[in-house]
Amino acid sequence: MKPSVYIETFGCQMNVADSERAATGLRKAGYELCESAENADVVLFNTCSVRERAEQKVYTRIGEVRTARGGDRQPIIVGVMGCVAQLEGERIFERAPAVNIVIGTRATDRVPSLIDRAQRGESNVSDLGERAENEVWDVSPVERHSAHVAFVPIIEGCNKFCSFCIVPYSRGREKSRPAGQIVAEVKRLLVLGYKEIHLIGQNVNSYRPGTESGLGGFSGATPFCRLLRAVAATDMPRIKFTTSFPRDFHPDIVSAIEDNHNLCDWVHLPVQSGSDRVLKLMRRGHKRADYMERIDRIKNSSRRLALTSDIIVGFPGETEEDFRQTLELVEQCGYDGLYLFKYSKRPGTPAANLPDDVPEKEKTARFLELEKAQRRAQQEVYRAYVGRKLSVLAERQSSRSSADLVGHSTCHKVVNFPGASSLEGEIVDVLITEAKTNSLYGRMVNRPVIA
Ligand code: 5AD
Ligand code: SF4
Repeated sequence: MKPSVYIETFGCQMNVADSERAATGLRKAGYELCESAENADVVLFNTCSVRERAEQKVYTRIGEVRTARGGDRQPIIVGVMGCVAQLEGERIFERAPAVNIVIGTRATDRVPSLIDRAQRGESNVSDLGERAENEVWDVSPVERHSAHVAFVPIIEGCNKFCSFCIVPYSRGREKSRPAGQIVAEVKRLLVLGYKEIHLIGQNVNSYRPGTESGLGGFSGATPFCRLLRAVAATDMPRIKFTTSFPRDFHPDIVSAIEDNHNLCDWVHLPVQSGSDRVLKLMRRGHKRADYMERIDRIKNSSRRLALTSDIIVGFPGETEEDFRQTLELVEQCGYDGLYLFKYSKRPGTPAANLPDDVPEKEKTARFLELEKAQRRAQQEVYRAYVGRKLSVLAERQSSRSSADLVGHSTCHKVVNFPGASSLEGEIVDVLITEAKTNSLYGRMVNRPVIA
C-alpha cells in the first residue's frame, strides 16, 4: 500500500492552489491524503518566504511535528515544497536533517515520483526544475480548499523585480495559462456547483498567454480584460481576481466589471508606499500620481468597488516625511482593507544591498500609526454598509456559533448572519445590521439585492 500524505500550507493563495494540485496528483498515483500530521507517513510543508517570519515558521513547524509525534512515531518522509524549497534548495538538508525531499515551486506535479524515490531509500531527493510543457492544471474537487469557492491560477511568477521582493526568484518568470484552458476549468467548476472563483496570480493583470485560444470574440484593451470578459461569459455567479499590479492596471478592467454583474466589486491594488522617492527605490514602476489615476477610475465607477492594498513601512531610507506621504495617501484612498508589513530584508533581492536603516522601534511606531488611521477610516467604510443589503455566499458555519453562517459579500467583506447549515453554498441577500472593524453582521432577507 502507498503511504499516506499530509500537506500543510503556508502563505498565499498560489501556495494553496499548488497544494491542491499536488494532492490531486498524489491521489491519482494511489496515495492517501490525510487531514493531520499525526498519523501521516509523509508530511509535506508548502512554504512561503515573502517575509522573514514566514520562512522561519517552517523550521519551527518541522520541529513541532516531530516533538508531537515522539521519537518512535516519526513520519517516514518529510518534504519541503514551495518558495523556501526553491530558494534554499539542498541547504535545507543541512539546516533541517529530518527533511528528505526538497520540492521547488515548479515541481508540484512531480511530487509522487519524488516521494517514491525517497521511499526506495534515496537520500536528499530534490527537484528545483521547471514545469513540464503541457502540464496538467486540473484539480480534483475533493482537494479544493472549499466546496464553494475555487482558486484558478491564470499566471505564475513575476517579471517586475520590485527591489524588496523575493517572488521573482522563488517563482521565476511570468507564465500565463491559455485562456481556453482557464475557461474550460471555470465551466467544469460551474457544473460541480462552485459559486465563486478567484482568478489568481502574482500579477493577474500582466496576463499574456501568447495564444488566442479562448479569447476569440472577447474584446478588451489588454489580454487580461479579454480574459475577464471570457470568464464572465461562463455565467459563473461570482468572479474575483487578485493580485493586480498598479502599472498594468488598465481602466478597461473597471469597464469590464461595469459590463458584467458577475465580475465582483472588489479590487486589490497594492501601493506599497505613498512617497515617490521610496516607490523609486522600491522599483515599482509607478509614481503616486499614476496610482491615484487608477484609484480615480475605480472610485468613479458606476458600481461601488471595494478597494484594498498592501503597504510596507520602514523600507531602507524611508524618512518621517516619506511615511507622512504614505499616511496621507491611505487617508485619501479610503481603503476597505489594508495589509500592513514592516520591511524585512530578503537575501538576494536588490534592496538587501541597502542599509536596513529604519530602527525596529520606528518601524513598529509607523506600523501602529498607519494601522490606527486605517482602522478609523475602515470603521466608516464598514458603518456605511449598515442598512444596506449585500449578496453573500454562505461558505460555512461560524466558529463562534453553530446557529450562524459566515461568508463573503461580492465586495469581499466577511459577513455573519443567523442561518441553518443547509444553506451552505447558497448565495443569499443579507441586510446588514451591525459593523465591526473587520466584519459585518446581518440577517437574511428574501428580496433581491439592490446594489
Ligand atoms: N518586507 C516586508 N513586506 C514585504 N512584502 C513583500 N516583500 C516584503 C519584504 N521584504 C509584502 C508586500 C507584498 C505582500 C504580499 O508582502 O507588501 O505586496
Ligand atoms: Fe513581488 Fe513586485 Fe512581483 Fe508583486 S510585482 S510579486 S511585489 S516583485
